[in-house]
This record gives sequence, C-alpha cells and structure tokens, in this order.
Amino acid sequence: MTYNSPLSDGRAADLAAALAATDPQTVLDIGCGWGELLLQLLAAAPAATGIGVDTDPRTLARGRANADDRELTSRVAFLEGQAAELASGPADVVLCIGSSQAFGSNADALRALYPLVRPGGRLLFGDGIWERPPSAELIEALGGKDGTTDLAGLIDHAISAGFRPLAIGSATRAEWEQFESGYLADWEEWLVRNDGHPEAAAVRGTADAHRDRWLRGYRDVLGFSYLILGRPA
Ligand SMILES: C[S@@+](CC[C@H](N)C(=O)[O-])C[C@H]1O[C@@H](n2cnc3c(N)ncnc32)[C@H](O)[C@@H]1O
Repeated sequence: MTYNSPLSDGRAADLAAALAATDPQTVLDIGCGWGELLLQLLAAAPAATGIGVDTDPRTLARGRANADDRELTSRVAFLEGQAAELASGPADVVLCIGSSQAFGSNADALRALYPLVRPGGRLLFGDGIWERPPSAELIEALGGKDGTTDLAGLIDHAISAGFRPLAIGSATRAEWEQFESGYLADWEEWLVRNDGHPEAAAVRGTADAHRDRWLRGYRDVLGFSYLILGRPA
C-alpha cells in the first residue's frame, strides 16, 4: 500500500500541490505512519522542513528509508512517540490523516490541532465519516461509539474548533476498493502461494473475516473525508 488511507495518487498529488502553493516552511505530520504524503509535500515545497510523529517504529523506519531514497533526509525527521506529547507547533501546514484517535474523538482532535497550526496556516484533516447512517451492529463491530459524524457534522466540528473549510473532499468507492484490496493483498498473495501450509487456515480465516466486515459491513456506509482547513490569521 502506498498510503494508509483510501487515497488515490491523483488526490494525493492535488492535496500536496494545494498545500505546497501556500509556500510552507514547516510541516508537521501527526500519526504520520510512513509519511508518504509528508514526503510528497516536501518534494513539492523545496523550502519546507517536516516532522512526522508516530508511535509505530516499523512505519517510521519505512518513512526514513523512503526519505533517504528521495534525498529528503536532511529536511525531515521521523519521531517516535505519542502525538499529544511530542507534537509541537505552530507549523505552517499540519497533516492529520486517519490519526485523530491520537487525541480522542475527531472533535477532540480538531480542538487539539488548532494551536499546532500557525495563524494563516493549513490543516489537512483526513478522517472517517458516515456516508449513510450506520446500524447499531456496525458501530459495535467498529469498536463502539466514537463521535464519528456525517461530513456536515465534521465540518461543524472544524468550524467550532476555529477553522474555516477551504476544500472539502471525500474518498470515492474506487479509492476504498484500492485501499481494502491493498490491505488484504499480503494475505491473499501468500494464500495463493501457500495453499497447503499449516497456517493457511488461520490466515484464510483472518482475511475472510476482514473482507466480510468490509463488504457486508461498512462498505458505502463508512466514508473518509479530506478537508483542507484554514486557521484564520
Ligand atoms: C491509519 S494510520 C495513518 C497513517 C498516515 N497518516 C497515513 O495516512 O498513511 C494511523 C496512524 O496513527 C498512529 N497513531 C495512533 N495513535 C497515535 C498516537 N497517540 N500518537 C502518534 N501516532 C499515533 C498509528 O501508529 C498509525 O501509524
């Protein structure tokens, strides 16, 4: 998987270009994972330096290796730790994609992110939304009530936190299908090669259960928004 969210190359390029056009000097990526969009933004904004923060050392190692491959090592640092403790601002651009849980609910995250964005700066906020009202079973299967809203409700939270919505987008079905297929691909490729392996039944069960949760559960109900939010100067 190139991105750890339902994000196409085209949307990623558009988002990086829109943020680079603000001529950022500093970029902060909260829950960066391997920081693919952070690296694309740094490539598009040659004056910028970036910091990515994540708790997962394996994804951070992948980010550092990718930075090295693209000769961006001198302009980016991948830090291991809790976002709420390590992230310090304000930065010209803050990215928080699929990582709002680092602060609690999405409303909690938007409030916590506001002071990390320089006045006049931008927040790219990528987060789950309901495209259709979820069933009680689906909410339970996804881990219980967590404050997820529809897109309009998420914009309300952003405005309440002090931001203005500059660009509003949400993942397409094709982006979800690419993301979910990518998520399943390692298991499925392994199963095709290792049908008689003693662990095949367990791997098959894991992959089948995940695919079922998606296709019979949250497909077309759970969405994912990409908001470019501006902090008024
Ligand atoms: C869905 S992934 C998204 C990664 C990345 N933003 C991307 O779009 O590819 C969520 C990331 O948040 C990180 N994360 C979760 N809780 C965190 C916390 N409290 N502090 C820092 N990172 C956290 C996870 O380790 C994971 O890499």
